[in-house]
Amino acid sequence: MKPRYFVITVAVILIVFGFAIAFSGILFRLPSFKNIEKEAEKWLALPIPELLQDENPDPNVADFTLLAQQGETSFFDGVKTRTMGYNGNFLGPVVKVSQGETVNMHVKNELDQATSIHWHGLEVPGSEDGGPHQVIQSGSTWNPSFMIDQAASTLWFHPHVIGTTATQVYYGLAGMLWIEDENSASLNLPNTYGVNDIPLIIQDRSFDRDGSFYYMDNGMDGARGDYILVNGAITPHLEVNQVKMRFRIVNGANASNFNLSLSNQNEMIQIASDGGLLSEPVIRDNIFISPGERVEIIIDFSSNDEGDIVALMSGQELVMTFKVGGTAKDDTSIADKLASIERMDESLATGLKTIELDGMGHMVSLNGRQFDMNRIDDNVQVNAVEIWEITANQSMMGSIGHPFHIHGTQFQILSRDNKLPEAHEMGWKDTVFVNVGETVRIIVQFKHKGIYMYHCHILEHEEAGMMGQLEVR
Ligand code: C2O
Ligand code: CU
Ligand code: CU
Repeated sequence: MKPRYFVITVAVILIVFGFAIAFSGILFRLPSFKNIEKEAEKWLALPIPELLQDENPDPNVADFTLLAQQGETSFFDGVKTRTMGYNGNFLGPVVKVSQGETVNMHVKNELDQATSIHWHGLEVPGSEDGGPHQVIQSGSTWNPSFMIDQAASTLWFHPHVIGTTATQVYYGLAGMLWIEDENSASLNLPNTYGVNDIPLIIQDRSFDRDGSFYYMDNGMDGARGDYILVNGAITPHLEVNQVKMRFRIVNGANASNFNLSLSNQNEMIQIASDGGLLSEPVIRDNIFISPGERVEIIIDFSSNDEGDIVALMSGQELVMTFKVGGTAKDDTSIADKLASIERMDESLATGLKTIELDGMGHMVSLNGRQFDMNRIDDNVQVNAVEIWEITANQSMMGSIGHPFHIHGTQFQILSRDNKLPEAHEMGWKDTVFVNVGETVRIIVQFKHKGIYMYHCHILEHEEAGMMGQLEVR
């Protein structure tokens, strides 16, 4: 071939390729939301998960059964996707418990593969935590039991087995665990399940042409999706009256952060972080939420008109819409003081740990090494108070930050790069986003004994080894 033709051929190939990539980008991207009203018609109503029945009549003891199952879900009209769920096809029920209650869980694995179920945010002995040491083989049942000994909060649960956590979550294994306590019951917050107290599990997923999930971790920073799902429906809508609505939000994505905002003049009033109610409500325009984190917010629709469409956005992408209906009686209120949160005293700390999060893709590490099931990386005395300094180092290719999570405890953030955290980060946390180049100092205490994981909650980073284990003795 003459050099000239060669150049032309290469140019044509490049142009065709470029178009193909650009075009597939358009085809598989989210639709554009210039006309939110139209889009809102197209998608489904927000699914409200079942509230799981307590099988024990004793008011102080609860028994719950969860079945990890395979199933099929229609995310698009007439198209079936193979999925996984607890007691259903995709995601799971909401489990509601009270402080002081003894809870017996019965988790049966009906999958054709091993799983485990981890209670993210729950303060329980390591043996009941559901991490990689509590594998449930296919066909068997795990019966952990624990006492609820922490404040009202929105927690969640998901698998935590070595090698398949990320795919099992992607296929749909996740659910919420809500704790109520005397304080939360005495406040007049919206708390009627499914009516003015609504769970929102936000995730993103990609689909192949045949409708199956397109799980691609890309070797980059985790599996992301072209569609945003809330409670398992693509950008759904919810009809609301002109009242205060409480939303308990989990970022259940494998890797994506969401930066939530509302399209109208409505504001989001944050009332809780991962581990419970904040001391006071905080008005937010934007809520950044990384994988594993939770927030509870209240949106007051009483200033809206009937027919208004309020969109919950993440940056430029639609998450879901609220269609405002008529007026209705609303005797709920948001107290100025929600909870008393005693700041943990730094001078009581008897230990210091440094955590360095490094790398990207499959080349991640925590303190310079990768997770090893047979190695305990750290230990701590039960009830000892420690300070952990967590740093996300710059990687060669300009990495993203890491949501750092510790099992079996709720901690407080002391500082971000030596600055006091903002009001919404002054409450209890179990997952904290650490930006690249940033150092976050936290203060932590473990009240139970056992082995606990700590890791990046980008599930692909966790699986690539950005995880360590700690023994509390
Ligand atoms: Cu949400 Cu180790 O987990
Ligand atoms: Cu956890
Ligand atoms: Cu990470």
